[in-house]
Amino acid sequence: MKQFFSVHDIPSLAEAVQTALACKANPFQEEQLGKHKVIGLVFLNPSLRTRMSTQKAALNLGMDVMIMNMTSDGWALETKDGVVMDGDTAEHIKEAAAVMGEYCDILGLRSFPNLKNAEEDYSEELFHKFAQYCGKPVVSLESATRHPLQSFTDLMTIIEKGNYTYEQSKKEYVPQGKKPKVVLTWAPHVKALPQAVPNSFAEWMIKAEQLGWIDFVIAHPEGYALAEEFTSGATTTTDQKEALEGADFIYVKNWSSYEHYGEILSTDPSWMLTLEKLKETNNAKVMHCLPVRRDVVIASEVLDSEHAIVIEQASNRVWAAQAVLQEMLKNK
Ligand code: CP
Repeated sequence: MKQFFSVHDIPSLAEAVQTALACKANPFQEEQLGKHKVIGLVFLNPSLRTRMSTQKAALNLGMDVMIMNMTSDGWALETKDGVVMDGDTAEHIKEAAAVMGEYCDILGLRSFPNLKNAEEDYSEELFHKFAQYCGKPVVSLESATRHPLQSFTDLMTIIEKGNYTYEQSKKEYVPQGKKPKVVLTWAPHVKALPQAVPNSFAEWMIKAEQLGWIDFVIAHPEGYALAEEFTSGATTTTDQKEALEGADFIYVKNWSSYEHYGEILSTDPSWMLTLEKLKETNNAKVMHCLPVRRDVVIASEVLDSEHAIVIEQASNRVWAAQAVLQEMLKNK
């Protein structure tokens, strides 16, 4: 694997989940694989889980880790070509990425969207340039439009918590009994957030649905439809109550409008997930990528209940990251 930007970089979801679960069962199985190899984790935005889980994954594989927080510690980056750099930016991504590539065997990059210009954000120009100029395998630590390490973790968690058997001969997961119903529901928030997590989750869940693993539904208020390229083939509704009926897994997430790009169209508190809403579900497990604003996005009574699996979900970030880094190290 030379890059991990999306679900399209994974040849087999079943094998990827198997690898992640194997990493969880035996974290140090491949501790020699990354000996004398260096991963550089480059952040243009804050992070707790992605930073620490990817670092832990790399350490489990015997790698050394260098972390660069560009906004506080690096030179201000210029990403556009042909700019006369007589303003605030001090270093072009051509040199910065190339230099980081000299120091590292694998690089990770986190860069959020500006939420002002959809075309610019959705072009993922920064990620493509970074990969091109660094010349090393690159793993997305969350881009403008996707968060693949999170979505891989989410799928792994659903398989782990659901009732599946793995058919070795076919290299496939098969649900035992009824396929789990997985619902992605919008929830209110006070700030305009990227669409990266829901875009990415939808992309991975649509693939899982095509494999016959789950039934997938997206619920959001009017004006919050995600980009077609991420949701094509998904069942969507503006009726959250209807979506939650019989749900086995509920993935709660706020996002800003794609249609009215980056805008907050609603802060309707009736979309917050409460215990009352869980009564109509199949004793659903509640997921969120974190960080989560309590009693805005999800009620505290839910987060503090047996329904919430957000900590186990965050814990699984290590194993998804380790599976990706392991593949990159093996296929170099
Ligand atoms: N879920 C997630 O990516 O968390 P961080 O932003 O803290 O890394």
